[in-house]
Amino acid sequence: MMNLILLGPPGAGKGTQAVRISQKYSIPHISTGDIFRKNIKEGTELGKKAQEYMNKGELVPDNLVIEIAAARLMEDDCQQGFLLDGFPRTVMQAEELDKFLDQRNHPIYKVIDIDVDKEELMTRLIGRRVCRSCGATYHVINMPPEKEGLCDICGGELYQRSDDSASTVANRLEVYNTSTKPLIEYYERSGRIIHIDGGKDQEDVFTDIINAIGDN
Ligand code: AP5
Ligand code: MG
Ligand code: ZN
Repeated sequence: MMNLILLGPPGAGKGTQAVRISQKYSIPHISTGDIFRKNIKEGTELGKKAQEYMNKGELVPDNLVIEIAAARLMEDDCQQGFLLDGFPRTVMQAEELDKFLDQRNHPIYKVIDIDVDKEELMTRLIGRRVCRSCGATYHVINMPPEKEGLCDICGGELYQRSDDSASTVANRLEVYNTSTKPLIEYYERSGRIIHIDGGKDQEDVFTDIINAIGDN
C-alpha cells in the first residue's frame, strides 16, 4: 500500500514527476487540477464553478475539492495506493483527507515536498506548454518538443494553460505561500514528509524521490 502526496508550489514539477512515480509504483496519478480542467473542457457545472477561481489563480473552495477528491479515492484503482498531485492544498483539506483515510485504515505513507526558488518557478510556468490530446508537459526552453507546437508522444497540439500568464502566476505563488505552505508543518508534525530539491534536472529529482521513498 503506497499512498503518496506530492506537495510543492505551482511549477515545482509535481505533474512532471507524478508521471514517473505513478509508473514506477503502479499507482494512479490523481491531480485535482487535471480533474477541474477536464470538467471545464466538458462544460460541466463543476467545471463552470471551478473556472472562476482557477482563472484568477485562487483556490477552488474546500467543499468542492474535498467532494471530488473523496469520490476519486473511492474508485477501485485507488485501493492499492495512489499518488495525489495538488491535493490537499489547505490545512482543512489535509485534515479531511486524514479523516477519510483513517476510517479506511489506509493512511498517507509519505508526503514529497518539492521545493524550487521563486524566479525559477516563474520561468517554468510562463514557458510551459501542454499537449491537448495526451496531457504531456513541455517547456519552450527547458524541454522543447522536437517539432514546435506538437507533442512528441502523440503529435497533438500544444497549448498554454490560461492560468500560466505572468499576472496569474504571481497570484498563484502568493496563494501557495499563504494557504498551502502551512501543510509542510502539518505533515512535518507526523514525521511523514520528505524534502526534495526540485531545482535539479528532472532525472535527478526523480532519482532523489525514489531514493527517499525507498524501494517497497
Ligand atoms: P494545478 O493544476 O494543481 O496547478 P499547480 O499546483 O499550480 O501546479 P502546476 O501544475 O502549475 O505545476 P507542477 O508542479 O505540476 O509543474 P509541472 O510538472 O507542470 O492547479 C491549478 C488550479 O486548480 C489552482 O490554481 C486552483 O485554482 C485549482 N485547484 C487544483 N487543486 C486544488 C485544490 N486541492 N484546492 C483548491 N483549488 C485547487 O512543471 C512546470 C514546468 O516546468 C513545465 O514546463 C515542465 O516541463 C518544467 N519542469 C518540470 N520539472 C523541471 C525541472 N526539474 N527542471 C526544469 N524544468 C522543469
Ligand atoms: Mg501540475
Ligand atoms: Zn500528446
